[in-house]
Amino acid sequence: MNYLILVNKFEPLTEEFDQKLCLIDFRGKRFEKQTAKALGSMLDGAMKENLFIQVVSGYRSADYQQMLWEREISKLMGEGLDYRSAVETTGKTLALPHCSEHETGLAADLAIEGEDDVSESFAKSSQSIWLEKNAHKYGFILRYPRMKEHITGISFEPWHYRYVGAESASIIKQNGICLEEFLDFYQDKYLDSTKHPVKYCASPIKSTENH
Ligand code: DAL
Ligand code: ZN
Repeated sequence: MNYLILVNKFEPLTEEFDQKLCLIDFRGKRFEKQTAKALGSMLDGAMKENLFIQVVSGYRSADYQQMLWEREISKLMGEGLDYRSAVETTGKTLALPHCSEHETGLAADLAIEGEDDVSESFAKSSQSIWLEKNAHKYGFILRYPRMKEHITGISFEPWHYRYVGAESASIIKQNGICLEEFLDFYQDKYLDSTKHPVKYCASPIKSTENH
């Protein structure tokens, strides 16, 4: 598994990717094996500080992502948005099918224990503050941080953590960069690229692009 795989609207997953995935169950969701192990360690670490974290989402198939995408567009159109605006708004918080990290089994959506959905208010919780400070030690990054929306193309998501491995996660955290920046500018400098084959993002993602 390439833990530095870049998945976004410019770097969709191939159909074959799903067939090669080895997923295991963790707290009722499925994850890539090493990701599940690291997630377990991270949630145990939080629990030792009396911070209880719920896993809201893990692996999703492309079909499931498609359903989420269509459901959100229908909801927004039901609220009065035209199709174009609904697509644009949805694309800020939801990846298109084949373009979601959830399809890799490397991403986890997290919430306060007892919550069954993600929420922007999670950012203010002790759980989220702990994760922002400590997730890198377990190999996770906050994948869609504030002030990087123009690069990631996705709004700030305090709940979405992505496994990249502890070495890369620490560099990303220390430098205050997002995964796209790390892959474009930092990886060669810090990591032995023969150990981390990766697809480069050709150019920064423009937030003005249509979805
Ligand atoms: N919410 C993230 C971008 C996803 O749908 O994968
Ligand atoms: Zn997510």
